[in-house]
Amino acid sequence: MIFYIIIIFVFYVLYRIVLKPLIPLLILKLQFGKEAYLWYAPIWGLLKYNFRSLKQNGDFFDDLRKRMRENPQVKILLTNFLDTPFINFVDSEYIKKMYLEYQNFPKFNLLRYDNLIDKGLLMTEGEEWRFQRTLLGLAFTFEKLKSRIPMINQTVKERCILDPKTNSFDFISWITGEVVIHSFFGEIAKGLTINGKPGQVEIVKLVADIMLQRFKNAYTQIKLMILGNKGWRILATKKEKDINNRVDTLRNTVKQLIETRIQQLKGETEARKEKDKDQCFLDIYLCELLKQQNEGSKKNIDFEPVLQQFLTLFFAGTDTTATMTVTCLVYLAKYPDVQNELLEEIKDLMQDSDVQDTHLPKLVKMNAFINEVFRLRNPAFSPFVRLVQQDMQFLDIKLKKGWMVVQRHDIPVIRNEHFSNPEVFDYKRWLTGQGAIQSDNGFVHIPFGAGGRNCIGQHMAQMELKIILCHIIRKFQVSLNPDVQLKFGIRFLYGAEPDNCLIYKTRR
Ligand code: HEM
Ligand SMILES: *[C@@H]1O[C@H](CO)[C@@H](O)[C@H](O)[C@H]1NC(C)=O
Repeated sequence: MIFYIIIIFVFYVLYRIVLKPLIPLLILKLQFGKEAYLWYAPIWGLLKYNFRSLKQNGDFFDDLRKRMRENPQVKILLTNFLDTPFINFVDSEYIKKMYLEYQNFPKFNLLRYDNLIDKGLLMTEGEEWRFQRTLLGLAFTFEKLKSRIPMINQTVKERCILDPKTNSFDFISWITGEVVIHSFFGEIAKGLTINGKPGQVEIVKLVADIMLQRFKNAYTQIKLMILGNKGWRILATKKEKDINNRVDTLRNTVKQLIETRIQQLKGETEARKEKDKDQCFLDIYLCELLKQQNEGSKKNIDFEPVLQQFLTLFFAGTDTTATMTVTCLVYLAKYPDVQNELLEEIKDLMQDSDVQDTHLPKLVKMNAFINEVFRLRNPAFSPFVRLVQQDMQFLDIKLKKGWMVVQRHDIPVIRNEHFSNPEVFDYKRWLTGQGAIQSDNGFVHIPFGAGGRNCIGQHMAQMELKIILCHIIRKFQVSLNPDVQLKFGIRFLYGAEPDNCLIYKTRR
């Protein structure tokens, strides 16, 4: 009896791990021939090869990029994640269609932790998403962004002095985190501490710890697979309990901030509110909700969506911008000539004065440089992984409900079809009049995604990037640390390692 049970169990596991994902992939491979690239691995799928590439070549995506360049006819990459087929679109026609029909592909919540970001703009769908997108749009207008420049300037300047700069990621993410917190809460969040650490440091660390626990710990992973997100709180290990406690503290601290602001706003007159030109995200939110409340609905303001919107913007805006900034600094260190050219542009434009909004569009070389870094090392190498909502015909491929799909931003941009000498880092390609991209359907180079669900923070990110780079380039000569080996790995986003890979020498 036991024997048969074991046999059945072994076959079941074999089926779930191998046959269930592999059979549909093989059928697609047969159907597509050279236009599909099959890269299956039990459980880990593509991740296995990415980690191997990091170990052997010092770059998470080196192997993938090589294979995609050697096989320019490949349009889809067939792999798996756990027991699910995972289709990576690497051709811009599929990418375009997926971005335009985003409603058919709900996002897959990578964090797998309830009540952090699932009610925010990044994860909601349908009407709820539309409402939030319209409301938040008010906080991302050029006028609103412009009003935050002095705050960004001050934060960058302070951190350039106070930070030891031995850990580039900590150095920059402090700045980008502070900018999101300040943009969201305004003055009341000054000096915010959570779990005894500066707010931005704790949130960045907490998200990283959740991801690490979820991806690296087999017990947590299996529990989440069986129990869903509730698994975090059931039969929790000491580490899981620690994470749960930190999440609770974070939520409570933020709730209190929101409550404080509601009381302050209730006390202010309409005229005072209108005058507040530098309205932060929270005020825009609360004013709208208070207005609704006044218009009759006696409903109390629900904290939950506001709280999760803050965490969403923090989650979406801190790591991304910080990782991209560090990657830019790494390229400036690798190419000292480029660093000098950018320094000259900055000096010609503003000498030693602070960055103002009128300077931003005139930083032509820096703009081209940022674009080129995005092309080769976009931290967001792909957007969120999506799920196929129902069986469907998608161009020439039949997708099945429940499969995972994603658009790769990093492959079209390294193909000869779209760029000349695509493997060469050359920011000047963006400065020529005729445009750098060949046979462009508009979805070849899209560092911030595209279509209705593109990055709402892209102008804020570009602004931050430029201001931070201007200050750092003027103040420091940035070079690679000769004592460590530079790698491009994954922390969730794709970026430079180790954290001490850069040296900052004060310019005289
Ligand atoms: C270099 C920096 C950044 C990069 C590369 C980046 C990239 C992206 C990409 C590719 C998406 C699309 C995701 C998807 O479709 O799955 C996205 C969405 C989003 N980004 Fe960014 N982002 C950056 C900075 C920011 C900043 C600074 C904020 C806000 C403070 C922000 C807020 C968001 C939000 C809320 C969404 C979801 C929009 C929606 O679904 O309607 N991002 N970002
Ligand atoms: C930029 O920040 C510095 C340092 O905090 C401050 O002295 C300066 O006035 C700021 N400049 C602008 C234009 O806000």
